[in-house]
Amino acid sequence: MDLSGKSYKAFIERQEALKKQYSPKQAEKQHSKGKLTAHERISLLFDSGTFEEIYTYVTPADQPVEFGKVERTFGDGVIVGHGKVNGRLVFAYAQDFTIMGGSLGVVHAKKIAKIQEMALKMGSPIIGIMDSGGARIQEGVASLSGYATIFHNIIHSSGIIPQISVIMGPAAGGAVYSPALTDFVFMVNHTSYMFVTGPNVVKEVLNEDVTFEQLGGAEIHASKSGVAHMIYDDEENTILALKKFLSYLPSNNVENPPVMADDGSCSDINEKLRDIVPDDPNKAYDVKDVINNIVDRNSFFETAELFAQSLVTGFAKLKGKTIGIVANQPKVLAGVLDIDSSTKGARFIRFCDAFNIPILTLEDVPGFLPGVDQEHSGIIRHGAKMLFAYAEATVPKITVILRKAYGGAFIVMNSKNLGGDFSFAWPSAEIAVMGPDGAVAILYRKELAVSKNPAELKKQLVKKYRDKIANPFIADESGYIDEVIDPAVTRKKIVSAFNALSNKWVKVPSRKHGNMPL
Ligand code: HXC
Repeated sequence: MDLSGKSYKAFIERQEALKKQYSPKQAEKQHSKGKLTAHERISLLFDSGTFEEIYTYVTPADQPVEFGKVERTFGDGVIVGHGKVNGRLVFAYAQDFTIMGGSLGVVHAKKIAKIQEMALKMGSPIIGIMDSGGARIQEGVASLSGYATIFHNIIHSSGIIPQISVIMGPAAGGAVYSPALTDFVFMVNHTSYMFVTGPNVVKEVLNEDVTFEQLGGAEIHASKSGVAHMIYDDEENTILALKKFLSYLPSNNVENPPVMADDGSCSDINEKLRDIVPDDPNKAYDVKDVINNIVDRNSFFETAELFAQSLVTGFAKLKGKTIGIVANQPKVLAGVLDIDSSTKGARFIRFCDAFNIPILTLEDVPGFLPGVDQEHSGIIRHGAKMLFAYAEATVPKITVILRKAYGGAFIVMNSKNLGGDFSFAWPSAEIAVMGPDGAVAILYRKELAVSKNPAELKKQLVKKYRDKIANPFIADESGYIDEVIDPAVTRKKIVSAFNALSNKWVKVPSRKHGNMPL
């Protein structure tokens, strides 16, 4: 090639122009808001030197703009490409707020769509780093169509490749549905927000005063709406957590998750497990103590930690292999299943099922949350999602009943007849149609009404109920659970049960899809 020729000179000029576009001034603009640039985010995410950007030099669509102007920049406000994360192929796009507010024009959308299609073809995860004012106003309906293509692609890749959204700035208007459709959403405290309509519109339409943070900040979405699953205080920690998170997931639905070397540091027999559940059935404890004493050391990665906290969900490693954990949390509302925890559990179970991640259920649940508010808001419909998700899942499924397993909640938490593969119970388990107080009140209503000492009679009856009915031995003897086990051997039992299930294969009859209660 003639390195002094015209075309080589043009090639170099283009590179120089690109360098100028991504100037220190541009970076400063982002940094002053506590944010990184799109390039900095990408280089933090990918293993050093592995990211290959494509469509670097494309420019915005050459179309008449009647309102405002479209900047003729390289890349059209989004970086797309592929590289390695922890040695595995990952596709990504990162919107660049410094170029027209990261707004999505036609070419910007085409770049994202292209990378989505490549990720699907290659069977690799896709990460979307969002920092955008939404549909580019100047490009009108064409940019809306761009969003439609992106949504279409997410939906058609769902359950085939993991799709993760990382919100690192604004996500406003219909654009929020892009992250909402993906599997997991990461957000950054104080610098990211998501809403369908911003504070100004809220003020105009509803005359309500609300700040960006109050309306759609990371904390609100992580704790109240459940839209965000993981939040961190800065972008560096968000990306570090995302990289760790990816190490639990397979690249696609026909692969298994990566297996870590088992350092053998966890004993299969752990006597600490005997002392976590209190003798008093009304006393709370932290189910995460149980989880951390079963799984490989420091391997539990909790998802949606701040949302619907009466149910704990997350991934962990067991002898180096990924498992999904669904656990009632007695520390919060006694571990009850309400609308939010049912929805949280169902979505998590479906993710695990789609991506070949075996599920461990730790059960201590008094039932579904009663009351007018829950009934009127549809606890029946939402609780049914958990039933549907568990029964539909064909991955290996094991339950350990730690304490309470009452009523419909016993059934829903992966009971054997619902399709659970193995069900173990600790001696502290209480398995019955309902809790002792409710059962005594119903069966002995007349006797209690005429008793001279109803409190004493009730106490005796509750004790009798616990001895005769609310224990794990009846279920054990009748085969509704597989075995009552010493808590100390839980890890050993679970490892052995998951090994026995490692080639589990279920033939699902052909149908278009089931009709989950939504
Ligand atoms: C074109 C946009 C833009 C947009 C921002 N910019 N949003 N340009 N289309 N949607 C430009 C601004 O004009 C500005 O350009 C630059 O980006 C930075 O924006 P600022 O407003 O200066 O930044 P900031 O004060 O941080 O406010 C950020 C913001 C605000 C809150 C995101 O820009 C905003 O409200 N934008 C509109 C959000 C929105 O409603 N989008 C449409 C959503 S509807 P200059 O040249 O001054 O630097 C949607 C439909 C999707 O997305 C439908 C899917 C089905």
